[in-house]
Amino acid sequence: MNAPNVISPATTTPVSSAARTSDSVAAPLQSAAPLSDEQQYIQYLKAQLRQAQAMASLGELTSTATHEFNNVLMTIINYAQLGIRNRDDASRDKALGKILEASQRAAKITGTILAQARNRSESFEPTDLCGIVDDTLVLLEREMNKYRVSVTTEFAADVSQAMVSGNQIQRVLLNLLINARQAMGEGGSLLIRLRNSDEAGFVELTVRDSGSGIPADTLPHIFDSFFSTKSGPDDSGKGGTGLGLAACKEIVDAHDGKIRVESSVGVGTAFIIRLPKA
Ligand SMILES: Nc1ncnc2c1ncn2[C@@H]1O[C@H](COP(=O)(O)OP(=O)(O)O)[C@@H](O)[C@H]1O
Ligand SMILES: [Mg+2]
Repeated sequence: MNAPNVISPATTTPVSSAARTSDSVAAPLQSAAPLSDEQQYIQYLKAQLRQAQAMASLGELTSTATHEFNNVLMTIINYAQLGIRNRDDASRDKALGKILEASQRAAKITGTILAQARNRSESFEPTDLCGIVDDTLVLLEREMNKYRVSVTTEFAADVSQAMVSGNQIQRVLLNLLINARQAMGEGGSLLIRLRNSDEAGFVELTVRDSGSGIPADTLPHIFDSFFSTKSGPDDSGKGGTGLGLAACKEIVDAHDGKIRVESSVGVGTAFIIRLPKA
C-alpha cells in the first residue's frame, strides 16, 4: 500500500491573505488610508462567499433533516394503519409502541434543528463534543442505514470540553459525514473518534471513512471554494457545490484550530481536526 497522501491547507488562501493585509494596514489608520476599490471589492466577494457557504450548509442541513423526518413519518403512518386494521390488543400495543418510538425520534430531529436556529449568537463556549457528534448522527441515521454504512464512535473517557460554537462544529461534522458517506457508495465503515490531542491544549476529532480516497493531484484543491469532483447534488440534494470543506476550514480557522487530511486511494480518508480545549 502506498503511503497516505497528507495535506494541511495553508492557513491563508490568496483572497483571505489579501484581505488580512488590508485589515491590518487599514485598522489603525482607517481615516488616513481608506480601502482601495480593489480591497473593497475583495471584502465584498468574501462576504458573498461566506453567504454562499452558509446557504450551502443550510441546504444540506434542511435536506438531511427533511429526509430523516419524512422517514419517521412513514413509520408512524404505517403503524397507525396497522393499528386500525388489527383490532386485537397485541397488534395495537405493538403499533402504539412503534409510533411512540418513531415520534420520539422525530422530536430529537426537530430538536437538533431548533438548537441550530436558537443558538444564533454562534458564541464560543465550553462544549462537550461527544454530545455534538451524537446529535449530528441522529440526523444521519436513516441515510447511513440506507447505504449500509456502519458507524462507530470512539470517545475517550477523559476527553476535555472544547471552546467552540456547538452550532458551527455541528456544521463541520455534517459536512464531513456527508462527504464520507458519498465517498463510500454502498457499504463501508465510518469512524468518529474524539480524544485529547498529543498537542497540549487541543482536543482531536477524527472522521475516518473507508471510501474512494483522494488522488494526490486532487488533494491540494479540496479546501478551495467551489472545488468539487461531484457532477451535482446527489438524489437527496447533497454535495456538488464545492463549498463544504471551504466552510469547514473557515470555521476551524475561526476557532484557532487545525484541520488536516490523510487519504489513500482505494483505502479511505481521514479528516483530523484539532480544537482548543476549554
Ligand atoms: N471523505 C472524502 N473522500 C473522498 N473525497 C472527498 C472526501 N471529502 C471530500 N472529498 C473531495 O473533496 C471535494 C470537495 O468537497 P466539498 O468541499 O465538501 O464539496 P462537495 O461535497 O460539494 O463536492 C469533493 O468533491 C471530493 O472530491
Ligand atoms: Mg461536501
